[in-house]
Amino acid sequence: MFKAKEEIGALLEPLVALEASRISELLEVPPDPEFGDLAFPCYVLASRRQQAPASIAASLSQVLSGRRGVFWEKAVPKGPYLNFFIDPLSFGREVLRQVLSRRADYGRSSRGRGQTVVIDYSSPNIAKPFGIGHIRSTVIGHALYLIFEALGYRCIGINHLGDWGTQFGKLIVSFKRWGDEERLSEDPVNYLYQLYVKFHQRSETDPALEDEARLWFKKLEEGEAEAVAAWSRFRRLSLENYAGIYDLLGIKFDYFHGESHYNDLLDDTIRLALSKGIARESEGALIVDLEKYGLPPVMLRKKDGATLYITRDLAAAIYRYETFGFAKALYVVGAEQKLHFQQLFKILELLGFEWAHSCVHVPFGLIRFKEGRMSTRDGNIIFLQEVLQRSINLAREIIEDKNPDLADKSAAALAVGLGAVRFGDLSNDRIKDVEFDWDKVLDFSGETAAYIQYAHARICSILRKAAGADLAWEEGLADLLQQEEEKALIKALAVLPEKVEAAAEGYRPSVIARYLVEVAREFNRFYHQCPVLSSDSALQKARLLLIDAARQVLVNGLGLLGIAAPAEM
Ligand code: ARG
Repeated sequence: MFKAKEEIGALLEPLVALEASRISELLEVPPDPEFGDLAFPCYVLASRRQQAPASIAASLSQVLSGRRGVFWEKAVPKGPYLNFFIDPLSFGREVLRQVLSRRADYGRSSRGRGQTVVIDYSSPNIAKPFGIGHIRSTVIGHALYLIFEALGYRCIGINHLGDWGTQFGKLIVSFKRWGDEERLSEDPVNYLYQLYVKFHQRSETDPALEDEARLWFKKLEEGEAEAVAAWSRFRRLSLENYAGIYDLLGIKFDYFHGESHYNDLLDDTIRLALSKGIARESEGALIVDLEKYGLPPVMLRKKDGATLYITRDLAAAIYRYETFGFAKALYVVGAEQKLHFQQLFKILELLGFEWAHSCVHVPFGLIRFKEGRMSTRDGNIIFLQEVLQRSINLAREIIEDKNPDLADKSAAALAVGLGAVRFGDLSNDRIKDVEFDWDKVLDFSGETAAYIQYAHARICSILRKAAGADLAWEEGLADLLQQEEEKALIKALAVLPEKVEAAAEGYRPSVIARYLVEVAREFNRFYHQCPVLSSDSALQKARLLLIDAARQVLVNGLGLLGIAAPAEM
């Protein structure tokens, strides 16, 4: 709707005493296309004008009566709104021209130029399997990275690995007591995890284990050689394991700065908290009181000198600001850590950092399998690698069944299988808990990646059959696309840029996911009503251009979610 919105903004600016760009922003899409295409909410003027919104709408429409613009053809009042009807001809030309000339750039912009967004995502805990719980952070965080990047921001992706903390004391103790080199080399991460579970079972009856673990973590913090060697080995083995998952999913990070990365900065951070007078000693521990702000107190240092998760997060935030000078720092972390981030941001604010307000916790709900919530403590965990492999296998079965002649079934199964897991996660409002259901995520006719990928592959197949047809863009061709389904598809294609912005604005990749389902649905409606290859030559060409534009929108949109679009499936 870009150009149409700009035009209406400029049109109304002198009439309503608002800036054109502000007016463009205020324009809404009416609930029913019968009412018009873009609605200006007159109630925003009501208090200033001391006039009822409906009468403002009526008088504006009177001023505009008999006029029309390039993109709008009439303006009609409806309750508190002034509704504009878009001229379908100029609009269709503009949309197709934009998509077909900008191609892979359609949907991208440079509005974020010169600004940096730091995104903390994935961030699994070393020596534990990469559980399905971390997939949400990985997939949502990576999509946000791609979305902000598309808007011209400089993105810094950081994997804040959980590679420090008292649990490493526990692990060292477990390994020293029960460790088996052979089993470690067979399947390192799962084995380390079993040791961790064993520690917790044993420590229930043998509390001395906990003291021993604390001692070893202390040694680790002091840099004692044996402790450091064990820790760095566990870390390396874990990272090798995660790398397999990241590679499979095509996920990248600019930095693997885990919690341990900030060890050297912790003393300074604590000194700062003391010098600002916000931390106090209590029975040997160091505490920040946040009662005034309705938050529980935070411990920055235990009485044995050990630091905590939040101490390292404080140091990390300061480091990130000093290193990258961010306009925004996003923490893509489960909703169960809400309190942690409230406390973290409040302390940063109390330390006097203006930029504390640019830090955002981007929370998400849990993934539930039928088994219920997953926790790494009790050994009830579903492994992401297994989930991904299972999805790829199921996709393969469906493809074998639907398209037995397909040449490269493995590539298609990979794209569809991985797409299903990603989309199953991304298409849900992130804050909601997700119920993961295999039948649903791989349903080719449901609200799934496969449904979108299938629409895309279908277009590719039509375009292959039309190979050799002249697809050079001619302005007048768009005028032939006057069927209801054609106009609806063009309208859907028009809004990719604003959907990308809305997704960034609310940190909600789901906006793009849902939108793509809509585009695929409009394409399917078109496809069932409007023959492409059997139409006469001018109409055939116009329709080929239209579906080529739809193909481009689907590819671009899926790309922002990190999902591949195979040409055949
Ligand atoms: N490792 C943590 C966990 O698995 C997540 C870390 C999130 N990032 C952060 N800066 N706290 O719970």
